Parts: sequence; structure tokens; C-alpha cells
Amino acid sequence: MFIVVGVTGGIAAYKSVHIVRLLVKQGHDVHVVPTEDAVRFVGIPTWEAISRHPVTTSVHDDVARVRHVALGQAADLVVVAPATANSLAKMAAGLADDLLGTTLLATSAPVVVAPAMHTEMWRHAATQHNVALLRARGVHIVGPAEGELTGGDSGPGRMSEPEEIVSAALGVVGARRDLEGLSVVVSAGGTREPIDPVRFIGNRSSGRQGIAVAREAASRGASVTLVAAHVEDDVLVPVPGISIVHAATAKDLAEAVRDAALTADVVVMAAAVADYRVADIAPRKLTKEGRVGGLTLELVENEDILAGLARDRRDGQTIVGFAAEMPGDGETLIDRGRRKAARKDTDLLVVNEVGWAKGFERSENEVVLIERGGGVVDTVAGSKGDVAVALWNAIHAMRMKNR
Ligand code: CTP
Repeated sequence: MFIVVGVTGGIAAYKSVHIVRLLVKQGHDVHVVPTEDAVRFVGIPTWEAISRHPVTTSVHDDVARVRHVALGQAADLVVVAPATANSLAKMAAGLADDLLGTTLLATSAPVVVAPAMHTEMWRHAATQHNVALLRARGVHIVGPAEGELTGGDSGPGRMSEPEEIVSAALGVVGARRDLEGLSVVVSAGGTREPIDPVRFIGNRSSGRQGIAVAREAASRGASVTLVAAHVEDDVLVPVPGISIVHAATAKDLAEAVRDAALTADVVVMAAAVADYRVADIAPRKLTKEGRVGGLTLELVENEDILAGLARDRRDGQTIVGFAAEMPGDGETLIDRGRRKAARKDTDLLVVNEVGWAKGFERSENEVVLIERGGGVVDTVAGSKGDVAVALWNAIHAMRMKNR
């Protein structure tokens, strides 16, 4: 899930570090938006290190990506913790003089707010009025708790504990933990088959779809091993709930996936695996010196990892493949998908159309899910995250049915 955590300027900001950690640990994609005041309590490097995303307070940074509205638009959930009396007043008034303000106005996602302030400020009619207004607009308020406050006084005003805020926030969006206890392997990215020490045969897979699948599984409670072939730099963000194994070639990937699959309940082969490798890899860089005319490379076939996994599947193990298809004249994407599903004997095949301008290097995707026997389980058009959600819904439903 794409979660924005807004942090405003109160001492409880240090506790929000733990909120971000908990959410990241559960596989969520967390973007922190502190206010200028908040970074006097906890600095930007801390937020960046813990969320693994760039952090800014200003609407003037990263303008090319229209960040002031982009975060709010992308968010599935916004959590503001701590929310000071001042920030509650700003929210109630709809002020947008910083990145958090614009993000809150630009979002249609559920907003969960954890107030923190001194008892007098909390009880003040202005604050109570603002809280009531926010509630009426559908904002969820968690706490504040009663207890000792920073000045040594005590009463209502303490920010609720991070665990409570996280579970309330995830509860609001109905975050599922339906994959708890499941062991999952996901392969992602494109393999690279070497020609010589400096050249390779590769493909256009960015790894985005596979990584979205891994993250979704982790956020729903699965324990995930991600076998990553070549993925784009900005795509492979380490997530504490996911262990990553790197694999360069189809052969490396086959070994890593087979190893991890030994104890896995579900294997999802989202990687674009090279069907062929160079028969004799040149030990030294190939040179044109002394060569006349073209160059012919002999390619030999790689094993089909997915078909092998399906052949060796244990009882109760679910094997899922992806298929990148370009339907020819007179055939549909589904026809091609059905043929591939039968050929590879997958429990579920995610079929998407590819072409020069389709399927790769973009965040949107359109897929058809085909089950064993050729039935269409679902058709999904949306972000790669949406595809990941639909895929796990289908896998989960299938496993429940076959229990
Ligand atoms: N795959 C695999 N091992 C290979 C090739 C592909 O495990 N050597 C897996 C991919 O990870 C994917 C699925 O097979 O899950 C389908 O990949 P795709 O490239 O669409 O199919 P191919 O098997 O290459 O078939 P074709 O090129 O004939 O369409």
C-alpha cells in the first residue's frame, strides 16, 4: 500500500519514527511528509533512511513531478502523527502552505490523525471544534491517550502508541493479513545472458511488476523471498519483510528459485527469463580487430524454470506464471494465454499484452488471469500495484477453495 505519513512539529515526532518503521516492515511503500517544525525534532536524514524514499517539506522541490499533489493522489492512506493543535487548525481550515497541506487537500484516501499536545490545548474550544469538524469530514482520530506529558504534567494529550496508531490506520483501510503464515517466492526483473565480459543479451523488464507482487504479499503477512534478476535502480527498494536473492542469468535464477521453492507454498515467476543463452561465452572482450563481416552467436536453449516448477510441484503448492504475449491476426490474448497455461501447467497465469509501446517501463498494466483449465478468473487494468492486489486475491481464493 502507498502510505503517506505526515509528521508535524511536536516532541512525539520521535515516536513516529517507529510508526514508519512498522509500516515499512509490513511491506508498505511509505512516504514521509514532515512540516518545517517537525524536522527540528527529527531530521530529514532519519526519515529518508527509515522510509527509503526522498523526503522534503517544501512544495518547491521536485516540481517536475508535481509532488505537491502527486503524493496525495497516489496515497491509499494518509496518517498524520503527531498532529499538533496548530496542524489540526490548519487541516480544518484547509490551509496548504506546505507539502503536507497540499498533500492533504489533494488526497481522496482515508486520513488518520493522531493528535498530541498539552491537555489545555487539547481541551481548548478551538481545538475541540477543529477535531469535530475533521471528524465530520470523515477524518479518523486516534487518541490522544492520557498520561504523563513532556512538561511533567499529565492528562489527555499524549500521542497514542505507534502500534495502536498503525493498527487503527490499517484497520480503517481494511488492510488484510490474509497471507499470514504463507511462504512465498517471487522472481522479478530480466535476466542477462553474457556474450563476453562486457556485453549481454537482455530484455526490457524493469522488475516493477514482480516487486509490486512481492510487496503486496509481504504487506498481507506472507514471508517473502524475492529472487531479483536485473531490475532498475529505483525499483529495488529493500523492504525488511522481504529477503532478496540476486540472480544474474537464467541459470542463476533457476537455482535460486528452485532452492527457495523447496519450502514455499506459492511461487510467482514474474521474471522475464531469457529463453536462450550464448553457447560459448567469450572469456575476453570480443573485438572487431582481424574480423571481417558480421558476427554470428550460437544460442542454446535455457531450461524453462516455470514448467519445471509446475512439473515438480508439491501437494498444495501453487505455481503462478506470467506471460508476455503479442497476439497475431485472428487470435486473442486469451487464446494465447490459454495455450501457454496448458503448455506450462500453471495454476494461474497472468497474461499481458506486450509490444513496442506496451507492457514495459511503465507503471500501468493490463492483464488477464487464467486458471488451470483455461477459465478467466479476473481482468485487471490499473497500476502494477492493482495487478498485484488482484493476483493475490485470486491466489488466496484458489488456495481456500482447494483446501
Ligand atoms: N519462464 C521461465 N523460464 C524460461 C522462460 C520463461 O520460467 N526459460 C517463465 C517466465 O518467468 C514467465 C513465463 O515463463 O512466468 C512465461 O514467459 P514468456 O516469456 O511469456 O514465455 P516463454 O516461455 O518465453 O514463451 P514464448 O517466448 O514462446 O512466448
